[in-house]
Amino acid sequence: MHDHKLFRPERAAVLEDQGRLQVQLGEDELADLLALRGDEDVADLGSGTGFYTDRVAHLTTGTVYAVELQPEMLAIHREKGPPANVRHVLGDVDDLPLPPASIDVALSIITFHETRGASTMRRLYDAMRPGGRLLIVDWRRDPADDAEGPPLEFRYAKEEVSELLAPFFVTERAENVGRYLFAVVAKRADLPHS
Ligand SMILES: C[S@@+](CC[C@H](N)C(=O)[O-])C[C@H]1O[C@@H](n2cnc3c(N)ncnc32)[C@H](O)[C@@H]1O
Repeated sequence: MHDHKLFRPERAAVLEDQGRLQVQLGEDELADLLALRGDEDVADLGSGTGFYTDRVAHLTTGTVYAVELQPEMLAIHREKGPPANVRHVLGDVDDLPLPPASIDVALSIITFHETRGASTMRRLYDAMRPGGRLLIVDWRRDPADDAEGPPLEFRYAKEEVSELLAPFFVTERAENVGRYLFAVVAKRADLPHS
């Protein structure tokens, strides 16, 4: 965990700004990138106040694990009254507290740059069932302008993210989203047992 990069609970209201759906990631774009069948178990890695978690929970009848390091964030999410299929998991996504083969899909929205990134991948691979998929949305290094987001030096290029995911995940899509973000969609690799 990189403490200085951590999004502070005092700024939680920023995460609840409905304008994010226009400026950052819209509901239709999220649904398109996730491409859920509708019965998957999902992990939201660094779920914050659950702004996107709750929207994902409406796209599946499976369990949506909201994995979050800061208890204050989970408390705010809980107060909002999340959908019944959301489960809060207090923990570090870099040391993923989910059992092997417990999820089908994982997503990380504007959180990857706050984590240790690549070191998360082995545990995530193990937690995911065969055929699983991963969506990472984060701040671009080359945004349309620098009006929003963390300092440029904290950010990744989408090509770098694809490299960091390998060999555990194989990138299927890597594209810009809106003015500020990129999305990488990857599928769980079919590795021999190790
Ligand atoms: C910028 S916020 C985004 C929250 C949410 N994904 C959203 O888009 O609304 C990043 C969140 O990730 C959490 N986070 C950062 N590093 C984490 C880690 N290693 N494990 C779990 N959560 C983490 C922070 O506490 C914060 O709530």
